[in-house]
Parts: sequence; C-alpha cells; structure tokens
Amino acid sequence: MKAQGPIGVFDSGYGGLTVLRSIQSLMPSYDYLYLGDSARSPYGSRSFDNVYDFTLSGVRYLFEQGCHLVILACNTASAKALRTIQQRDLPIIAPDKRVLGVIRPTSEAIGNYSSTGSVGLFATYGTVLSDSYRIEIEKFFPDLKLVQEACPMWVPLVENGELDNNGTHFFIKRHIDTLFAMSAQIDTILLACTHYPLLLDLISNIVGDRAEIISQGPLVADRLHNYLERHPEISDKCSRYGTTNYLTTDDPAKFEMLGTQFLGKSFSATKVHL
Ligand code: DGL
Repeated sequence: MKAQGPIGVFDSGYGGLTVLRSIQSLMPSYDYLYLGDSARSPYGSRSFDNVYDFTLSGVRYLFEQGCHLVILACNTASAKALRTIQQRDLPIIAPDKRVLGVIRPTSEAIGNYSSTGSVGLFATYGTVLSDSYRIEIEKFFPDLKLVQEACPMWVPLVENGELDNNGTHFFIKRHIDTLFAMSAQIDTILLACTHYPLLLDLISNIVGDRAEIISQGPLVADRLHNYLERHPEISDKCSRYGTTNYLTTDDPAKFEMLGTQFLGKSFSATKVHL
C-alpha cells in the first residue's frame, strides 16, 4: 500500500477554514493539510477557466504533498472546477486519488430542513450563475423550490472584518429582502459560501423566525464521515495522528491573523508557491 497522507482541504483563501473547523471537530483523529490560495482570492467573480486552472494547481500541489483525498472546501471551486477535475483530469493524473466538493454533500441534506419545500440560498455570483446547487438538489429533492441570490459584497465585508455595523447591516438586509420578495414561502436559508457563517448572527437577527439558517460546515463534515466509512480503500490511505498543517500562497502572517476568525483558534501558516 502507498504511504498514508493527510486529507487535503483546498480553498480560495480563508473561507474553507469554516469547513475545516467542522471536519476537525467531527473527525479529530485524522491529519489535515489545508491550502488557501489567498494570493489569488477571491474566486467568486472569476471566470470558469481561471477558477478551474487555480483549483487544479492547488489539487496537484496537495497530491504532491501525499494527500490521497482532497476536499474542495470552496463553493465557487466546487461549482466551477470539480466536475472537470473529477471527470477529465483525475483519470489521467491520479486515478487512485479522490477529489470531493461541498455542493453535493450540502444538497443531499438541505431538503430535509424545509417544511414548505421552498429553500433560499445565498452565495457568490460564480456559484449562483453556475446553477450547480439547483442541478444537485434536483437529484435528491426533485420537488424543492430553490431561490438563489448572489451577495458579492459579503465576502469583502467579512475579509475586512466588517462583521456587525450599519453598512454591513444594509448589505445583508438588502439581499434578505430580495430573497423573500422572490418567495415568501422560504423557511430555510442555506449559506452556500464559506465566508457567510461569520455573518450568521446578523443574518439570523434580520431573518428572525421567518426561516432557519443553515451553515454548510456540519453538513459537509457529516457526509465526509459517512464517505470515509463507506470507502475504506480511501480512508485506509488517510493518516491519523490528529495534526493539521496550514499553507497559504500569500503572506502567512496575514493569513494567520485573518484565518483565526474563520477557524476559531490561532494557528501557524507556511507560504508555498503553486
Ligand atoms: N470560498 C468561496 C466560496 O465558498 C468564497 C470566497 C471567494 O469568492 O473566493 O464560494
């Protein structure tokens, strides 16, 4: 058997740390190697070609570091690059390795939360325009009505630490109002962007009791746990010493400082070139 390696977790930058946080919490015994492409983030408004090229370079790097399984903990990368990497690249570059995203595991679960059958979704332009969530959710909940709203200001607000002030409140309320104007039946709202859990308190206050707000980290962690149980040929290749290493393509000091908000604890990062 090939040497075991950590589970790779790739994101455009910081946001995937919210997903990693849930994965670490559910499965603390595994080793993880987190790579945030913060030099080229955000991915949310970039073209398909660029998101695909950047994501593939990150996945290749994590494979070179010994990862047998890589999670794309970024909705935009999952929406724009995952399918091509799985179907076109993996069979050529690493047929025994696996790359999974965050859209399918979230889609498998989200319909269970709604009683009205109407779910709202907030995400980047890239994720909304790809329509990936609608395509995936239809496979599991064909009757579910999905209402999508892109919130391009939310990622920069989070990355600049503007989590709770009048300006942030304005931009959050604007998109919530637009969402409910499209369907008053919405009783569940999915935060389909890795940054949005940091705005959860403000979003919940404005939404009130109209809908339950779902962050995807716990859903992704739960489905990954299930995947590893069903695929011993992959989980046997994942090492388990409970360690995590953090890599960034930009300044590690900045990554550590901002990333702490997303991960909920401090950590040390190393700069790498892709
Ligand atoms: N990680 C991205 C996502 O979940 C948000 C940040 C970005 O646009 O790069 O869509």
